Amino acid sequence: MSIQEALQIQREYMQKVRNLVEQSGRVPLALVHTYGCQQNVSDGDKMRGMLAQMGYAFTDEVRKADFILYNTCAVRENAESRVFGNIGALKHEKEVNPNLIIGLCGCMTQQESVVQKIKQSYPQVDIVFGTHALHRLPEFLYTALQDKKVFDRCDDETDIAEGLPVLRTGKWKAWLPIMYGCNNFCTYCIVPYVRGRERSREPEDILQEARSLIQDGYKEITLLGQNVNSYGKTLAQPIRFSQLLQKINAIEGDFRIRFMTSHPKDATHELIDTIAACDKVCKHIHLPVQSGCNRILQAMNRHYTVESYLELAEYARKKIPGVSFTSDIIVGFPGESYEEFQQTLELIKIMRYDALFTFIYSSRPGTKAAMMDDPVPYEEKSRWLQELLDLQRKIGENNYQTYVGKTLQVLADGPSRSGPDYISGRTDTNIIVNFKGSRAQIGQFLPVRITEAFNWALGGEIAK
Ligand code: 5AD
Ligand code: SF4
Repeated sequence: MSIQEALQIQREYMQKVRNLVEQSGRVPLALVHTYGCQQNVSDGDKMRGMLAQMGYAFTDEVRKADFILYNTCAVRENAESRVFGNIGALKHEKEVNPNLIIGLCGCMTQQESVVQKIKQSYPQVDIVFGTHALHRLPEFLYTALQDKKVFDRCDDETDIAEGLPVLRTGKWKAWLPIMYGCNNFCTYCIVPYVRGRERSREPEDILQEARSLIQDGYKEITLLGQNVNSYGKTLAQPIRFSQLLQKINAIEGDFRIRFMTSHPKDATHELIDTIAACDKVCKHIHLPVQSGCNRILQAMNRHYTVESYLELAEYARKKIPGVSFTSDIIVGFPGESYEEFQQTLELIKIMRYDALFTFIYSSRPGTKAAMMDDPVPYEEKSRWLQELLDLQRKIGENNYQTYVGKTLQVLADGPSRSGPDYISGRTDTNIIVNFKGSRAQIGQFLPVRITEAFNWALGGEIAK
């Protein structure tokens, strides 16, 4: 079946659920809870969009919900444990309200072992489907409304389902997936197994979506993909990511462009030159290095070296004045020694990242690394992580100090915790700034003079 035919069937199911909702004479409430990365957030927005078209409204309260959908993450074990804990707690809710429908989807449920565990131990769950079946939510919900269970992991990697309704969580910032899946098979990572092979969206579909977001008043668009630098390679008419950036940059309007994630092995000088040349592209590069030791990088199957990574960063610092780097680091990859971990600290000292996302290695069944010897105890790895965090805190503080006295363009995006007269926003380099302002200014780009630097944020005042 073609994806167009599949979508037509889903439109019919949407109408069937809508009819049931209308017959019931009340507006049912859905709670969609998303765990994990921005790709999942974007998927969650699509499922909320479909639910809205079927007549559902939304709630954050478990007690009020008619339908609870957990959109799960599998990248680390603690994310999975949290989901199991939360669905365990729903057993009682189901007893109180037998009409409650409970659904699970996302990366966790793309794994057969998880589906089996739910079948055996969590009878309160009504619907289970994987990442490849997202567009079939209407059919699954209709089935559950007929008091039938749904277990549909779906192994086929479907073509990209274009044109699904989207209900975005934010008003100013939008996530725009440009590709799905991943071909890289980093040895620690479950993503290629649960999100399938790399598929790029057609540039025209992406551009059309970007244009309509800008028309709707969005001020920041973040292009999403597991490895944006390999965007477009498999399309019938191949196109490079830098070319896509140029096309989006050429759209008229007052907005900024971000993108994530850049895999260092595919980041090129051409990409850096494009960031430098495109006025709407933020001068911030999230470039996950994972480790500062070549032996570990090789064991991770990352296909770059510390030297090539640093060369690229140096080129970027030369070409893009004030460029900001952030990164992901895994501490305690199987077999990593303390000396090898120290090499990561050395790299961090050279890179002087503005922020780091740090993770203790988590073994994922089915990945290559899960089969490797992992002799270092968790407590030891936690101590290494603390050492890393202490170093990064000093670097971050120093970096933030260099912003004091500068006037930066800040996109005001919400109220601030500093008080009722304060609002909050982000710089081009994605740093949080709190400053005095009114709610009416939220959604605007404002020049803010930075007056203070804190641990995780800056303070400032709107420049006259
Ligand atoms: N254990 C710990 N961290 C992981 N990541 C991915 N897989 C694992 C794992 N098994 C981290 C990587 C990646 C980020 C999104 O999550 O640093 O860049
Ligand atoms: Fe996982 Fe590596 Fe793909 Fe990122 S590039 S999603 S870390 S396999």
